[in-house]
Amino acid sequence: MTTEIPQPPTFPLMGNVLDLSPDLSPITCVEGEGQIHAFDRLALQYGEIYKLDLIASELINCNSHALVAELSNDKRFRKVVIGALAQVRNLVGDGLFTAHHEEPNWATANQILMPAFAAGTIQGMFDDMSDIVSQLLLKWAHGGPVKTFEPTEDYTRLAFDTIALCAMSYRLNSFDKEEIPPFVSAMSEFLTESGMRSARPEFLRPWYEESNAKYEANIKVMSDFARKLIDARKLNPQKSGNKKDLLDLMLEGRDSKTGVGLSDENIIYNLLTFLIAGHETTSGMLSFTTYYLLKNADALYRLREEIDSVCGTEPVSLKHLAKMPYLKAVMRESLRLSPTAPARVVTPLKDEVIGGGKYAVQKDAKIVVHTTSMQRDPVVWGEDANLFKPERMLDEAFAKLPAHAWQPFGFGLRACIGRPFAWQEAGLVLASVFQKFDLFLAEPGYTLETKETLTIKPRDFKIRAALRPGRS
Ligand code: HEM
Repeated sequence: MTTEIPQPPTFPLMGNVLDLSPDLSPITCVEGEGQIHAFDRLALQYGEIYKLDLIASELINCNSHALVAELSNDKRFRKVVIGALAQVRNLVGDGLFTAHHEEPNWATANQILMPAFAAGTIQGMFDDMSDIVSQLLLKWAHGGPVKTFEPTEDYTRLAFDTIALCAMSYRLNSFDKEEIPPFVSAMSEFLTESGMRSARPEFLRPWYEESNAKYEANIKVMSDFARKLIDARKLNPQKSGNKKDLLDLMLEGRDSKTGVGLSDENIIYNLLTFLIAGHETTSGMLSFTTYYLLKNADALYRLREEIDSVCGTEPVSLKHLAKMPYLKAVMRESLRLSPTAPARVVTPLKDEVIGGGKYAVQKDAKIVVHTTSMQRDPVVWGEDANLFKPERMLDEAFAKLPAHAWQPFGFGLRACIGRPFAWQEAGLVLASVFQKFDLFLAEPGYTLETKETLTIKPRDFKIRAALRPGRS
């Protein structure tokens, strides 16, 4: 006998749509909350599993480690692209992140690009990464200790410039200007609107004329930018002997099994995919980690000791990063509490029963894995699951965690291809920032609030940065 999956009360004609539509419903949603907040609130109310009727589809939401461990099985469940991610296809079509599993371009792009994201290749990008980090350090040093910075904005500049330089040898130069470059704001507006569109019933879409026009205009700005980059590279290929970037690999690469290459259209989709996936998540992660460190003096003290003893005042290098276990634990713990890509969606390949024989789920059902709730499951992490404690992420303890307890980079075939890139970049940035600066919360009483685009980031988080004695 299976158990009925719990569901919040529904409204006539609207099902549970209003539970997730902050812009439509002040009744069911808390003012100002985004969709991801709404899911977190529902998880606290309904526990490990609940379903929502969203008229066009039903969503089954899973929040416990036990359920997620069961869903993390490529033989029984596979990724499905719905909601905000389906809207993102309006820009990046069958690029790696948003491709439906059966679309042939996913397998081709995956084959061609896997070697480009191997740890060894990413190490070759270290100097370009350091170049961009030095621009961030210079900006904060020039500001002096009284100027207020929004780390989320500056980390976004940094992550954008880094992925553009490493993936396509293009300098966005975001640190040169006070305002955010047009391409960057077009992308941010596009991602926010993709989230909003996914929360609105389809039949209301024509009413949002102004937003629709802006949405189309932003898509054009970004697609034109990527097309120009490809045309320029074709006219002016990188000279042989120069190291190849991701754009070269996509233009020249062939699937070793089929001999097929990528079309220009798919290369545009993947370039834009890297710009989205490569900046949103990493900049959010850097911002959350900075916040957690400023709120946890003991962890900051221990990290600082490690940085000082390993790097001294030398510029942070790859060799240094390999010798900093506490830094690694800090990054893992930050991604546990605030996984910046907080949900993924899977579907069963046949009718299934999950939860130890408890819940029946049908073939093609849409099941959301809520990584934030799952990574705070007290069954795995104890009663202090909501606290920032990097010690539980040091290698020895980490190795003893149950399988799938820590999953900020997704799972299996469709797990994050950019993980080594993000890890190297984030380690370099955090070690360099805390080596050089004493950071302070600009508003000492600030407590974490988040904002959502496709991912989550801290909202209204402001700091001041004072150079440490003896650093310049
Ligand atoms: C996929 C997280 C950085 C490129 C994913 C997924 C997650 C994730 C959870 C799986 C999504 C799903 O199942 O629907 C993160 C986090 C990052 C990060 C937390 C940083 C802290 C990056 C970077 C890049 C990147 C730097 C590129 C340079 C991708 C791509 C996919 C992906 C292309 C789709 C892979 C596929 O389906 O074949 N990422 N990511 N990510 N990520 Fe990342």
